[in-house]
Amino acid sequence: MTTDERDGRIPVAILGATGAVGQRMVSLLAGHPRLRLAEVAASERSQGKTYLEATRWILPGDVPEEARGFVVKAVEDPLESRLVLSALDAKVADEVEPLQASRGKLVVSNTKSFRMQADVPLLIPEVNADHLALLDRQGWAAAGGGIVTNPNCVVVGLAMALAPLHRAFGLEAVCVTTLQALSGAGYPGVPSLDSQGNVIPFIDGEEEKIETEPGKILGTLDGGRVVPADFPISVSVNRVPVRDGHTESVFVKLSRKASLGEIREALEGFTGEPQRLGLASAPPRPIVVRDERDRPQPIRDVEAGHGMVVTVGRLRPDPVYDVRFSLLVHNTVRGAAGAALLNAELLAATGRL
Ligand SMILES: NC(=O)c1ccc[n+]([C@@H]2O[C@H](COP(=O)([O-])OP(=O)(O)OC[C@H]3O[C@@H](n4cnc5c(N)ncnc54)[C@H](OP(=O)(O)O)[C@@H]3O)[C@@H](O)[C@H]2O)c1
Repeated sequence: MTTDERDGRIPVAILGATGAVGQRMVSLLAGHPRLRLAEVAASERSQGKTYLEATRWILPGDVPEEARGFVVKAVEDPLESRLVLSALDAKVADEVEPLQASRGKLVVSNTKSFRMQADVPLLIPEVNADHLALLDRQGWAAAGGGIVTNPNCVVVGLAMALAPLHRAFGLEAVCVTTLQALSGAGYPGVPSLDSQGNVIPFIDGEEEKIETEPGKILGTLDGGRVVPADFPISVSVNRVPVRDGHTESVFVKLSRKASLGEIREALEGFTGEPQRLGLASAPPRPIVVRDERDRPQPIRDVEAGHGMVVTVGRLRPDPVYDVRFSLLVHNTVRGAAGAALLNAELLAATGRL
């Protein structure tokens, strides 16, 4: 284990540390019991400045004390930390993540670049922790490096809710309409005149990701490759004037009929390796089901479980599919930075760091 000699925590480098997701990573690492922020990197615009000077902080409160003085590096620079969290734009990640992996770094990526590559785990630790075995098949393994990815932010919430239903009853078909927060577009993101008092029924490339990624996540590992779960997903996405939290209206056709009580029990009882291992970012119950007729709502529920809980509500029968519900996922925490930290905690707990 590559722990820090000073306090026993594992040093971490963040690529894209100044952006919306990178800032969440910095914030979640402050005071983390197992991981310690050690290096930050971003674009040419930020290089050579201190993190405080380079960052337009968009989270509540101030830039964490421990991050302020770091001098921002270039993302291609040699790094001291073996663990690298990446919150880069895909165009940059395409080149930089393999470069760092080839130098023996374990890169935990938020970016779409390698999610669907056959030998790259697309990980939600509660759902498919066993897919980490793919790391041993990567070309970078010879140098001690590798790439692990977390899914698209909508997909994290969707796949977490579908996983217990898939296990208990099987999935025949899924339909989902999204209402996605502005922070999902990064900073500065969508211009205010386009977003305020408006709904934009298009997010470039998003529907393709939501239709393909869940099959890989819910797939089974067989002979060193993932056999995707086989059910169609129909998606319609919208950008809405919400700051944080993606809402999803989900309609599910099951392979085996189940009562609402059985469905609720499957959702509420869902746990996985993070709970068994007691990982620092893992909520005891990753899915919370609410009974109020008007929940979940982003302003009320997005911080559930420090942003790591997926909140399900409006669970009811459906006359076309079998069941329908609304879910809420914190897009920059469970859908991005928190997901990356949980992946890193799993890597550490399973002896890969
Ligand atoms: N926002 C979300 O909810 C969310 C959720 C899941 C996944 N993601 C994914 O996470 C990644 C980051 O998203 P974000 O929302 O944080 O974006 P963002 O706010 O635009 O931040 C982008 C980061 O990348 C750096 N960067 C940009 N161009 C670069 C270059 N040419 N070379 C080196 N660094 C460069 C920026 O540094 P400077 O500040 O120096 O320009 C900044 O740190 C994206 O791939 C996105 O798809 C986002």
